[in-house]
Amino acid sequence: MAMRKKLIAGNWKMNKTQDEARAFCSKFVGLVKGVQDREITLLVPFVDLFVLQDALTKTNISYGAQNLFWEEKGAYTGEISAQMLVALGCKFVTVGHSERRQFFGETNETCNRKIKAAVKSGLVPIYCVGETLKQREDNQTFDVLKAQILEGLAGFNADFIRALVVAYEPVWAIGTGKNATAEQVGKAHAFIRDGIEKEFGTELANIMKILYGGSVTPDNARELLSLSDVDGALVGGASLDPEKFAKIVKFD
Ligand code: PGA
Repeated sequence: MAMRKKLIAGNWKMNKTQDEARAFCSKFVGLVKGVQDREITLLVPFVDLFVLQDALTKTNISYGAQNLFWEEKGAYTGEISAQMLVALGCKFVTVGHSERRQFFGETNETCNRKIKAAVKSGLVPIYCVGETLKQREDNQTFDVLKAQILEGLAGFNADFIRALVVAYEPVWAIGTGKNATAEQVGKAHAFIRDGIEKEFGTELANIMKILYGGSVTPDNARELLSLSDVDGALVGGASLDPEKFAKIVKFD
């Protein structure tokens, strides 16, 4: 089994002005200094990228955006391209977060285009999948995950699969304080990895990072992140506070 370095990603969502971003970084950088066995990244609002580009220079923390558009440039008012993110030093970009699926009409098909555009530009997409409470109660969890994976990643060759990260985020666990149990997370991650193996082969399944997201806190990080199929976390609420997020990064 390939060694997969854990990736701890903070998703600020629509939070923090530039001043607030600067204040966060000035504390957080020192708190996680010296951490080498985990990869740390912050996914922030577009305008905060300017602050991070400066504040995270020569640190062990990378950064990225929460969305992109698939075209390179042109008449797409309000949108941001992969190239623009690369020019700002972004490493990652989330695609298909459930809030974007819910409020902004993101579908597996638009995710597919966005992932393609991101990888072509050298960004690492963090492709978010996960079922709603209703879907879980109706026993549709695995069907939903399967469709999100197969449709979101349709037509990709090995180079694309190698370049991306998947995040399993059960929608009912996001921002609710109700994290999925270790058993639920273990089953979902194993299902996703199996699906990747069937579709794209063992080697790619072994190197693929699959993160868990949904009410990760300093208190439950250890239990969730020590599961063998869990390669890191996508952290929303708890990533807004430098101390809390540093604790999650340094879970042991
Ligand atoms: P949460 O959000 O940690 O606040 O539940 C996770 C996410 O939406 O990525």
